[in-house]
Amino acid sequence: MITARPQTYFKTTSGKIILGDSLDVLRELKDGSVDLIMTSPPFGLVRKKEYGNVDANEYIDWFRPFAAEFHRVLANQGSAVIDIGGAWNQGVPTRHLYHFKLLIMMCDEFGFHLAQDFYWWNPSKLPTPAEWVTVRRVRVKDAIDTIWWLSKTPWPKASNRRVLQPYSSSMRELLERGYKAKKRPSGHDISEKFAIDNGAAIPPNLIAVPNTESNSFYLRYCQEQGLPAHPARFPTDVPEYFIRMLSDPGDLVVDPFAGSCVTGEVAERLERQWLCVELIEDYLKGALGRFKRETTVRCTADPDDSDNYYRVPRPGILWNGSHGAPLPADGGAKRRLRVRDNAKGKSLELF
Ligand SMILES: C[S@@+](CC[C@H](N)C(=O)[O-])C[C@H]1O[C@@H](n2cnc3c(N)ncnc32)[C@H](O)[C@@H]1O
Repeated sequence: MITARPQTYFKTTSGKIILGDSLDVLRELKDGSVDLIMTSPPFGLVRKKEYGNVDANEYIDWFRPFAAEFHRVLANQGSAVIDIGGAWNQGVPTRHLYHFKLLIMMCDEFGFHLAQDFYWWNPSKLPTPAEWVTVRRVRVKDAIDTIWWLSKTPWPKASNRRVLQPYSSSMRELLERGYKAKKRPSGHDISEKFAIDNGAAIPPNLIAVPNTESNSFYLRYCQEQGLPAHPARFPTDVPEYFIRMLSDPGDLVVDPFAGSCVTGEVAERLERQWLCVELIEDYLKGALGRFKRETTVRCTADPDDSDNYYRVPRPGILWNGSHGAPLPADGGAKRRLRVRDNAKGKSLELF
C-alpha cells in the first residue's frame, strides 16, 4: 500500500521510521541538519521490477529534486552515500550510463564533491544477464554496485581508522621479517615506515560482501509473520562501513529510500540518531522485525578464519599458451547452436 501523507510508523529512543514519500519528509528537515545520508535508491531499470524501479532513461529527472534536498539538508561536513547498481540496455549487451549521469548531475548541478567512488563486489552474484554471460558468452558477470560517496565540501568528516581490515598473511609475514627500504619496479620509493605494524590494514575502495542472507533474523521474522521480504536489500556491512567511517555516535543518519530499514538497524546498534523513510508499507511490516530482537549486538568474526576473506584469483591462472576458439566475428550478435558431446561430457558450440 502506498500512503499519501507521511506518518511515523515506528520509533525507538534514537530513531524513527516514517511511512511516506521521502521528498515530503526531506522538505520538512532543517538546512544542514543531517550528518549522513546513507541510501540505496531504486535502481534505474529498462524493465520494471516489483518495487517500482524508475526507468533508467528518466532517472536523472526523477532524482533531481531528491538531489536538491540532499544538498540542502546535509551538514557542511556531512556526506551522502549512494549505493546504485548499473543496468543493461534493452536487447543489447551494452550498459546504460544512468548511474554515471546521476553522479555527474549531482556534482555539476548541485556542487557535490565526489569524495570517493566505492565498488561493492557481491561474490555470490549469479551470472546475469544469462543471454550475454552464459549463453552467448560475450560478457562477464555483472557483480558490482557502484557506491558514490558525495560531500558538500572537499573535507567531509571521515576516518579510515574506523574501517581497518586485518593484515593479509603476506603483510603479516613481512612485518615479522622486517622490510628493507627500496625502490619498487613502479619507481615508487617505499620507506621503512611501510613496515610499521599499525595493527591493521587500510582497506581499498572495493567492499567484498556477499548478499546471501538466507538465515538472518529479518528473513526468519518475515517468514514467520507471512510478510514479503524486501527484494533488493543491501547487507548490513555496506551501511555499517560508511556509518562507522563518516559519522559519530549521536549524529543523524538518514535513509530516504529505506526499504527494509537495514540502515536504521545498523544506526540503532551504532548509537546514531536515525531516520528511515519508505513508501511501501509492506516493506516496513517486515522491517519492524529488525528492532524486535532482544540484542542487536553484532557477532564479531575471527580475523584468522580464512572463510572471512574473499580472494579474487589473478586473471592469468588458467592461461596456458593456447589461443582458444576464434572470437565470433559478429560479436555474438547471432546466437550459436550448442550441442552436448556426451562422450566428452562437454557442450560444444557450432559456428
Ligand atoms: C533499493 S530499495 C532500498 C533497499 C534497502 N536499502 C534495504 O536494504 O532494504 C529502494 C526503496 O526505495 C523505496 N522508495 C522509492 N521511492 C521512494 C520515495 N519517494 N520515498 C520513500 N521511499 C521510496 C522503494 O519502495 C524501495 O523499497
